[in-house]
Amino acid sequence: MPTNPTPRDNFGSKFGIIAAAAGSAVGLGNIWKFPYVAGENGGGAFLLIYLFFVLLIGVPVMMSEFAIGRKGQKNAYGSFSLIAPGTRWNLIGFMGVVAAFFILAFYSSVAGWTLEYIISSVSHRFAGQSPADLERNFIGFISSPLKPIAWQLVFMVLTALIVLAGVKKGIEKYTKLLMPVLLFLIILLCIRSVTLEGGKDGLAFLFKPDFSKVTGKTILFALGQAFFSLSLGMGALITYSSYFSKKENLASTAVEVAISDSVIAILAGVMIFPAVFAFGIEPGSGPSLVFITLPGIFQQMPGGDFFGAVFFILLAVAALTSTISLLEVVVAFFSEELKISRRKATFIATASISVLGVFASLSFGPLDKFTIFGKSIFDLLDYTASNVLLPLGGLLIVLFVGWFAGKKIIKQELTNEGELRAKYFLAFVNIVKFVAPVAIAAILIYSIFWGGLG
Ligand code: PHE
Repeated sequence: MPTNPTPRDNFGSKFGIIAAAAGSAVGLGNIWKFPYVAGENGGGAFLLIYLFFVLLIGVPVMMSEFAIGRKGQKNAYGSFSLIAPGTRWNLIGFMGVVAAFFILAFYSSVAGWTLEYIISSVSHRFAGQSPADLERNFIGFISSPLKPIAWQLVFMVLTALIVLAGVKKGIEKYTKLLMPVLLFLIILLCIRSVTLEGGKDGLAFLFKPDFSKVTGKTILFALGQAFFSLSLGMGALITYSSYFSKKENLASTAVEVAISDSVIAILAGVMIFPAVFAFGIEPGSGPSLVFITLPGIFQQMPGGDFFGAVFFILLAVAALTSTISLLEVVVAFFSEELKISRRKATFIATASISVLGVFASLSFGPLDKFTIFGKSIFDLLDYTASNVLLPLGGLLIVLFVGWFAGKKIIKQELTNEGELRAKYFLAFVNIVKFVAPVAIAAILIYSIFWGGLG
């Protein structure tokens, strides 16, 4: 084995591919972020705009990423280099690696909180607490200097261990096991939530659109959330699809992943808003919504601590199937481009992301006064990645696929060398050439004039 130090691994089954890709998509973005972003941006109206973006822009961008990754058979950067040798299009892939770095840094911080909450549930610490107590304890926890960081590092190590085990024996094996369980538990918790007294107002908030709340900001956040939730614009799905079999139908896979992701986001809303209204909590209460509201619901259930523990285990699991896809972007890039072993790449990536992550965590406590452009480190990483890097990455990806990569290559990938019919192809080409770039660019430009980072 002279030249290639990392022989390429791949996914072993169709279900493995869906579980891994949907596992990347379904995560804290659906269960933690979607409900609070929707809550802050008008509920039902946000949901509609969001779903519109998922369909019109999300699915075509995902198909484009799948085509690039499977054609390139390399990490996000390397796949562009292979399809467009001698050009700088591979900078899109590089930007994706940077975005993965940023996202994992703040994401692992929240993922760590879920571990603390598993322990709290198991040890009955929520028993008898009022919503006000729950809120005070949550804020006390995230602002303490050491505990959240310790949990964040535990989470990073777990992620690294799975990535280290490889694509088939690590990523595929664990996502196949965990995704069905997640679905089952979310449904169970939805049923509990909608049957709470006063829960109906929550459903109305989620499903009755109030367009008077829609502003330019709502539209920007809906697009940012669609990219974030579908894991688009930053190379996660390019990297994963580089391990797909040549027989995989890329278009139907993209549709299946987008549907799974949207269904879980809606279910998360159905799980959370009725409870929010039943408790009289503000739906726009921000990132803490899940960590304050849900423990409150569990207190109302027989066996609540058990369900609470199970819920937070599953939230951790949903986060884990996403963090492995984020780390994989960086690891595949380091190992293939720097030509180092997967083990070394995993170590370097995990250590460096963790350092940035510690700063993200500290921005809830010791560093809460430290702001850049008026945002804490955590918010700045989140904002830059979700609302700038991902849409920009998505824009460049559709421009690449629509105008540069060549129709032939893309058609070959989407039809598996002519084996599948792709009746949608003309519509797809028009979307990636015109509709998606214009829509994404308009929103990005607007966001800069609307106030950029301020
Ligand atoms: N899609 C994930 C979620 O919703 C987050 C993520 C973004 C994962 C980008 C990978 C890449 O939680």
